[in-house]
Amino acid sequence: MTSNEVKEIYEKTAEDYDRWVIPCKKCQYIMLIEALDLRGNEAGIDVGCGPGELTRTLGKRLDRGYVFGLDISNNMIELAKKRTETEGLRNVSYINADYSEMNYTDIFDVCVSSYLFHWLDDPIIFLKWVRNSLKENGKIGLISPSPEWYWEVQEAYRVVMDKYNLKTREIVGRRIYQLDDIENYFEKEGFSIQSINKFSFKENTSIETCLQRVNAKSDRQYFSDLSKKLKKEAVDSLMVELMKNTKKLVTTESGYIVIASRM
Ligand SMILES: C[S@@+](CC[C@H](N)C(=O)[O-])C[C@H]1O[C@@H](n2cnc3c(N)ncnc32)[C@H](O)[C@@H]1O
Repeated sequence: MTSNEVKEIYEKTAEDYDRWVIPCKKCQYIMLIEALDLRGNEAGIDVGCGPGELTRTLGKRLDRGYVFGLDISNNMIELAKKRTETEGLRNVSYINADYSEMNYTDIFDVCVSSYLFHWLDDPIIFLKWVRNSLKENGKIGLISPSPEWYWEVQEAYRVVMDKYNLKTREIVGRRIYQLDDIENYFEKEGFSIQSINKFSFKENTSIETCLQRVNAKSDRQYFSDLSKKLKKEAVDSLMVELMKNTKKLVTTESGYIVIASRM
């Protein structure tokens, strides 16, 4: 999947993402900012900021500093700007670009990135970019989903993908990493890990809500290789599988909050 394809997904799903997904992440942002142990006068950047909820939460914490939100999707950035204006935050601004096309050297004290890591083509290139953008001893705060994230929904997809001989892919993103991989990437790229928080929520929630939360409703590429007739069949069997897996408590948001500093 190219960056342009990822961009297309988020151009289409920005509104739904803001409505269904962002509310589940708010306490994760608070945990992340707490763990960063900031002074309040730092220069920050939020890479892959989406509708900017984390950018603004960080902006409020950095009341004597500033934050840039950066995102490849124009619709996400437009939403972020609207919300920021409504909240009257003057130290938060946004840039609409592919992160890899921007070139910052020794500028930021803190870089946050939430739910971008699993969309990256190459996490090493990303971490090199972050390292270059940070000042010496600057910090990165990363939120990345863990393999258990919406586990029962993932299982249902796998069963249906198998049934129709479709190539299994992540339900969301390009690749969801194990914690060991993330730690290795950070260490290899010259970061010293300060803390790792794991979180995992179990909820008694409806199939409808689960699907909205993983953005599956508006990301129309599921089963896109099937004919129209088979696609309907596949969607029906997905619902049957989901019914089996979501009668009880299901794992919803689950991931890692990693804080590291540039050595
Ligand atoms: C899953 S959303 C995460 C949004 C938000 N950070 C959050 O915590 O929910 C991933 C975001 O990364 C953006 N994105 C993906 N690839 C990007 C890239 N190469 N450069 C900048 N933004 C990118 C997408 O447009 C999307 O808004």
